[in-house]
Parts: sequence; C-alpha cells; structure tokens
Amino acid sequence: MSDVKSEYRRIVAEALNKFINEKNAGCAPVNADTVAVQTPPNPEMGDLGIPMFVYAKTLRAAPVQIASEIVRIINETYSKEELSRTGEFLAVGPYVNLKLNKADAGSAILERIAQQKDSYGSLDEDGKKPLEGRRVMIEFSSPNTNKPLHLGHLRNDALGESVSRILKKAGADIYKVDLINNRGVHICKSMLAYKLFHEVNGDTPEKLGMKGDHFVGQCYVEFDKYSKEHPEAGKQAEEMLVKWEEGDSEIRALWQKMNDWTLNGVKETYARTGVTFDKFYLESETYLKGKDEILKGLEKGVFFKANDGSVRIDVTDVVGKGKDEDAHEKVLLRKDGTSVYITQDIGTAISRHDDWQFNQMVYVVASEQNYHFKILFHILKKLGFDWTDKLFHLSYGLVNLPSGRMKSREGTVVDADDLIDSLHEAALAEIKEKGRDAELSDADDVAEKVALAALHYYLLQVNPVKDMLFNPEESLSFNGNTGPYLQYVGARINSILAKAKESGITSDGSNAPLLTQAEEWELIKALGEFPATVAKAAENLDPSIMTAYLYDVSKLFSKFYQQCPIVSAETKELASARLYLAECTLTVMKNAMNLVLVPFLEKM
Ligand code: ARG
Repeated sequence: MSDVKSEYRRIVAEALNKFINEKNAGCAPVNADTVAVQTPPNPEMGDLGIPMFVYAKTLRAAPVQIASEIVRIINETYSKEELSRTGEFLAVGPYVNLKLNKADAGSAILERIAQQKDSYGSLDEDGKKPLEGRRVMIEFSSPNTNKPLHLGHLRNDALGESVSRILKKAGADIYKVDLINNRGVHICKSMLAYKLFHEVNGDTPEKLGMKGDHFVGQCYVEFDKYSKEHPEAGKQAEEMLVKWEEGDSEIRALWQKMNDWTLNGVKETYARTGVTFDKFYLESETYLKGKDEILKGLEKGVFFKANDGSVRIDVTDVVGKGKDEDAHEKVLLRKDGTSVYITQDIGTAISRHDDWQFNQMVYVVASEQNYHFKILFHILKKLGFDWTDKLFHLSYGLVNLPSGRMKSREGTVVDADDLIDSLHEAALAEIKEKGRDAELSDADDVAEKVALAALHYYLLQVNPVKDMLFNPEESLSFNGNTGPYLQYVGARINSILAKAKESGITSDGSNAPLLTQAEEWELIKALGEFPATVAKAAENLDPSIMTAYLYDVSKLFSKFYQQCPIVSAETKELASARLYLAECTLTVMKNAMNLVLVPFLEKM
C-alpha cells in the first residue's frame, strides 16, 4: 500500500496544481509530501481519502466542488489503463477518494512482507526508516536495592523494553540503561535489620533457600516493624549512611554483600521476563559527581545554603509558592552533608550524556515522580547544560490488583516473582485441564510463555499515562483482547500452514492477485498498515497502539479464515494464494508480538 499511497498523493497534488493554473489562482503550488491521506469510514466509498477542506481558502472554491474538479482533471490527464494500476479516483463529498486496485495493491503488500520477513515494519512509504539517525537513551526499571521488584516494576519494565524495541524497529539507535539506587537510607535500613537479626547466625540467601532480593526485602520489613517499637532506629539508619559516605570499611562490606544479593535476584527476574540493558548505572558511582555539581552551583549562586546548613534551590519558578513555608525550596544536600535522591540524578544525567551522546533521553518512571523530574530538568538547565531540552519523562500511571488480592510476602506490595509464578501455575493448570499437556513437548515452558504473554499484553494495552488494575484471570483468558488469545491465533495459523502443506498445497505469491474477496482484502490492507503503526507507536512512545493493531489483525484473520477456506478453496491457485496470505499474516504477527513482549508459540 505504501508505494500506492505516495503515488496517490502525487497524482492528487499534480491535479491540484493544474486546477490552480486553470483558475489562475496564483497561489503557491501544492507539494505532494504535505497532502494528508486518511482512511474513509466505509470501504465501499474507497480505501483511501484526501480531504479538500485545506485548499478551499486559497482556491476560493467549496471543498465539494474542488473534489469533483480534481477527479475530472485526473481522468483527463491519465488513461483508464494508466489509472488502473493505482485504482479508481472518486469524488465523495469534500474528499478525493481512491478505490485501490485490489489485485495489484494487495500483491505488492504481500510481496513486501514475503521479501522483508523479520525486518518488515521498519520502512516507511518512501523506503526509509522513520527514526533513522535518532539516538535515544532510555532508562527504565531503576529499582532501589532494599527490596525485590514489584508489580509497578513489571509495568515499567514492559513499557521500557517494548518502547525500546518499537523505537529500534523504527530505525532509532537505542541505548537501554538501568539506574540502580543502591545508596541511601533505604538500604541502610535493611542493613541495620540484618545486623540486628541475622548477623549472629551468618544468614545468607543460600542458607535460607531464598532469592537474594527477597531476603534483603525481608530485612527491610523487619526494620519497619522494629522501628515502630524503637523510634531511635531511623536515626541509627541515618548515622549508618553518614558512615557509609565516609567510606567505613565494615559498613561498606556489608553494603556490598547485601547489594549483590539484591541485584543478582533482580537480574534473575529480568532474565525471566526478557528484559535487557546495555548499561547499569550505580548511584554509588554517580552521586559524588552530583555532589560536585551542587557545590559548583552553590559557588555560582544557583543554589543557596539554608539556615540549617542544608544546600537548597529555590523552585518557585517551577512550582509556585506552596502553602508550607519552604515548599518552594528543594533540598539537594542534607545538613549532615549526605546526598539525597536527586543529588545522584544530577550526576547520573551528566555522566550519561558524556558516555553516549543522545538526541533524546527518555526516563520511564511512575507518575508519582512527575515533580521530581520537573525539578531535575530545571536544575540541569540552571546549571547551564545545553542538552536539557532533550530530556523527557515518560510518566506512567499506577498499577494495582483488584482489591483484596494477593499481597507479597513482605506484606505491602505485589511481588513481581510471586505474581509471575501464580500466572504460570494458572496457565499450567488450564493446559492440563484441557488435556493439552500430552501433545506439548514441554508444557511447563508453554505455561511460562503464556504467563508472560498475559502479563505483558495486559500491562501494555493500556495507554501509559492511565492508572490501571491488573486482573490476573482476565489477562489469562484465551478469548478476548489478551496476550494468550494472540498466541492462540499465531499457533492456529502455524497449524493451518502445516496442514495445508500436508495436503500438498504450496504457497505462491504469483497467485496473490486472486485475493479480492472482502475478507481477504481487509486483512491484506491491515498487514500493509504495519510499518505506519510502528512509526506511530514510536512517535508516541506508546505500545498500546501496537497491541490494538495486533488485536485487529487477529480478528481480521479469524474472519478471513471463516469465510475463505484454504484446503477446500475452489481452485488450486486460490488455495495457494490464501496459504501465502496466511504465511504473510504470521510474519506480521510474529514481528508485532515481539514488539510487545508476547512470545510466539508454535503450539499451545
Ligand atoms: N529507584 C527509584 C524508585 O524506586 C526510581 C528511579 C527513577 N529514575 C531516576 N533517574 N530517578 O523510586
């Protein structure tokens, strides 16, 4: 469809320019690239449409009149023969519509898919990658090291990984980074609990048979309980942080040990969900740079020293005057000289820009931190960095389970590993209930992939900015708008292909012009929209555009398959053309599923 679209634009622009001359309108000629192409609501009225409203003023004519004049001019300029390659031009109200020549347009789309295979989706109408030359650094996940990952991280990870894959598909250079907040009072709290309750026994995750991150998380919960009866505990954690910043060797050793436990556990979860990074930035390695910058800024007068000795910035420009006395002041270094959360972010941002010159830096972080990022970008700008307009906070909404549902072993938030385990068990139970396990060579592996499809698709089909509930049963349903449904359609196509081949049908692209039935055509058109969908999802940093697309394609395939049998098609040629269409559908589905982290299954 893509080539046809640009041809369509060219022909309409050319006719518009002839009309301008005829009318002696004297306005600037229309450039084909600026002509907007839309999809008419009713395919009977054409497959593509170009609205004439925008030309009414310069041409001093009603859009309806312009449309019919343009069609007249096109028919005068080209012979029927010549136009048949593109299709039929129709004036429909204020639109110049194009009814495509299905045989030719459809064959061209399918040929591109068959040729490009895995890489189909990357090239736009002009054969270029829409984001070629764009260098995007994307930060996501970014856990604190005092706890394991929770449900919010799963949404974050899915978004970050999916957006990265989509941007890459659209031609951007991608550098995926993870910030590990491994320094601060939070980790000191887990360390304190360890010293209190575990050190004497020499407890380790191995000894207790636990994942390291879960063990450190347990310590954090123990601290929480302890501090309720021992109000001085908070102070002790702060003292520990001071010692840590001074480099106290015993504290550092314990810190190193516990951070390793957490990080190894977290990395296991990443491996399980298919999330990868090009670089891990550790707060412990960037906070000093942040501190330096703050001291420099203090000298320059960007920041000031408050009466209590802390270093602050006035952020009235950003937030206005708050109700509280100092709500318009943000602390950058505590009065005891230790760093706060934003300190490291200043250092981290600068290090990153030094490491890998980006033209966009995307922070995938929950909407709870909108304020934090506003201030961070403001500070960097005040410090004089000229790349601050390249920083973007991709803010996403909260995710919760429907109330009264599973809680983590730490009793507060929904633990990521537990949640995936429970999805896995439910998927496996269903496979066994349906008696499918005998046919699957590895039912456990299939269950894991179904669980990940359910999780990722459910999290990604909601626009990132929206808050959402994660409903485990709904996510696992095999019919409806879910990941497992897509896997099911994919596996079904796979078995259709195998059966057709068994009955001696071979797919043949040269028969594609036979595919002119409505259900065939609608499916082909949708397959042709994949590159534009990739570009749109990339531009909006929104995987829900891709999930909606996949759902559409799946439904169109099902309609096609109901109406257009392959093995029992009227002729051998038609059977081979339909088989070819099924193959191309599978290629597109696989490519699109990969972008939203839904594993393809050959059988399920
Ligand atoms: N570790 C932080 C948290 O769990 C999120 C870090 C987000 N990224 C950043 N550059 N500040 O709240």
